[in-house]
Amino acid sequence: MKVGILGCGAIANIITNFAAEGKLGVDLKFFYDRDMERAENLASQIDDGTVLLNIEDMLDKVDLVIEAASPQAVREVVPTVLESGVDMIVMSVGALLDGELRQKLEKIAEENGARIYAPSGAIVGIDGIKAASIGRIESASLVTRKPPRSLGISTDEEKVLYEGKAGDAVRKFPMNINVAATLSLACGREVDVKIIADPKVDRNMHEVHVVGEFGEMKTITKNMRCSMNPKTSVLAAYAAIKLLKSLNETLHVGT
Ligand SMILES: NC(=O)c1ccc[n+]([C@@H]2O[C@H](COP(=O)([O-])OP(=O)(O)OC[C@H]3O[C@@H](n4cnc5c(N)ncnc54)[C@H](O)[C@@H]3O)[C@@H](O)[C@H]2O)c1
Repeated sequence: MKVGILGCGAIANIITNFAAEGKLGVDLKFFYDRDMERAENLASQIDDGTVLLNIEDMLDKVDLVIEAASPQAVREVVPTVLESGVDMIVMSVGALLDGELRQKLEKIAEENGARIYAPSGAIVGIDGIKAASIGRIESASLVTRKPPRSLGISTDEEKVLYEGKAGDAVRKFPMNINVAATLSLACGREVDVKIIADPKVDRNMHEVHVVGEFGEMKTITKNMRCSMNPKTSVLAAYAAIKLLKSLNETLHVGT
């Protein structure tokens, strides 16, 4: 399977390191970023790694594109990729909380025989939550606690930055709300979200509580942050890598 990357930042860097060591299980060859230097840096780590000036230039050469750029890229670039019948892994899942955009992308994908994958990202338990959503889910909540720097602020005290529905949070914290978006999509319902800047933590933490017909589930994820981008957790890149590997696996474990 031939793969290209859109957005050559922290997540793409970890994925490319795996590819360079021959541990990705797919053929990652093409790199696109609006910052050419970033694309060149990653392409240079791969034999025959190629930088492209436009995303369109890779579409007749790849089976799948990994979006690891921004919610804006999902709106502007992903439709073009799907129109070419090329599958997508979307990391900026927050963009998919916009129901109109999600339906548009699903329609384009369906008409062109493409698939859209949203990996579990920086959170554990998505497999169980998807299974739980087969029955009725009564409530789902997420408390995200990050070091202030990861939320782009400076404070010596714990500060609640947001409390409300995931759909509203995504407009205020587009780069920090992917977990809430993934959780909402997996549950099939709006999730209650609290975002806290906490100077006492050095990890990106997510506490999830789901209650439904299946029973009750609580998870806590304490994520190591990417050195290249402290907003982003290493687990998010690992989830994309595992998803890529699973596309070639015969035995699928988990939902
Ligand atoms: N699903 C999850 O759990 C999860 C976790 C962490 C991050 N993310 C999301 O994944 C995305 C990438 O994260 P990252 O930490 O690698 O980001 P990053 O900022 O380190 O890198 C993003 C790269 O994409 C490029 N880019 C941005 N918009 C672009 C566009 N429209 N066209 C071309 N290039 C563009 C930037 O120049 C940059 O090099 C972000 O949207 C982030 O919010 C998702």
